[in-house]
Amino acid sequence: MKIIKSPKILHQELVKLRLRDSKVGFVPTMGALHDGHLSLVRASNRENDVTVVSIFVNPTQFGPREDFSKYPRVFGKDKKLLQRLKVDFLFCPSVRGIYPEGLGKRGQTITPCLPPFVSNAKWPRLAKGLCGKFRPGHFQGVVTVVSKLLNIVGSCRLYLGAKDYQQAVVIRQMVKDYGLNARVRIQPIVREKDGLAMSSRNRYLSQEERLRARKISQVLFALKRDVLKREKTLNVLKNQTLTELKKHVGQVQYLEIVDPVTLIRLKKFQRGMAALTACFVGKTRLIDNVIIRFP
Ligand code: PAF
Repeated sequence: MKIIKSPKILHQELVKLRLRDSKVGFVPTMGALHDGHLSLVRASNRENDVTVVSIFVNPTQFGPREDFSKYPRVFGKDKKLLQRLKVDFLFCPSVRGIYPEGLGKRGQTITPCLPPFVSNAKWPRLAKGLCGKFRPGHFQGVVTVVSKLLNIVGSCRLYLGAKDYQQAVVIRQMVKDYGLNARVRIQPIVREKDGLAMSSRNRYLSQEERLRARKISQVLFALKRDVLKREKTLNVLKNQTLTELKKHVGQVQYLEIVDPVTLIRLKKFQRGMAALTACFVGKTRLIDNVIIRFP
């Protein structure tokens, strides 16, 4: 595995490989890798000749009161996991390498520069609700960094996890809006044995919080079962689930049933739906979702 810090060198290496017809798979991460990330790496290994994983804790996607400084950084451990999976390139740029223009005031998220020819971009609409409402500037930061990373990596398959469902939908739309040379491959959520969606933030949970956190997926799966029975309206089922969730976790930021493509809130049943939630267990913000599809 080659470990590369310089965007220019990574770009050049991948240009050379593509000239030899190699297909490139790219897995962007912020490190603190778990089995969810590793499943993306495995998918990339299966479907491409070369796999690139980036580890970059992107400052512009964290709000001023969020966990940027305490976000887990375990580079040595991550490196070993990726070596074991025979990743070809580990890209770990510096903040200067990705943002040579600087970051503005400390803690301030930058406004991504959107070239005028994409002023009709659709991704900002997808980024408005759900997490976007509670984390202002977050998706601008994500879109900024992912578009910069894709410029460096070049033509590739891009692997994203469905746990960050809104992020995956926003990035897929951004790739379309800007005509970037990437095929977005969204991979299923990987869960712990008790159903908790794997997340780098799970390590913040105390033992007692960890037990409460497993309720999140349990209520989502119960909601899915109830929706498929169609015995009550969507609204009643949603409120019922919200009440149940609130019994176990702290603050629930949102629980919504939306169209899986447009992320518009649904009032009536339709063939495909997505139920998404974000809530706090102690001080840890966790997200999860289930896709619901009538046969
Ligand atoms: O999901 C993440 O880890 C990050 O949001 C991403 C996509 C690597 C961008 O920083």
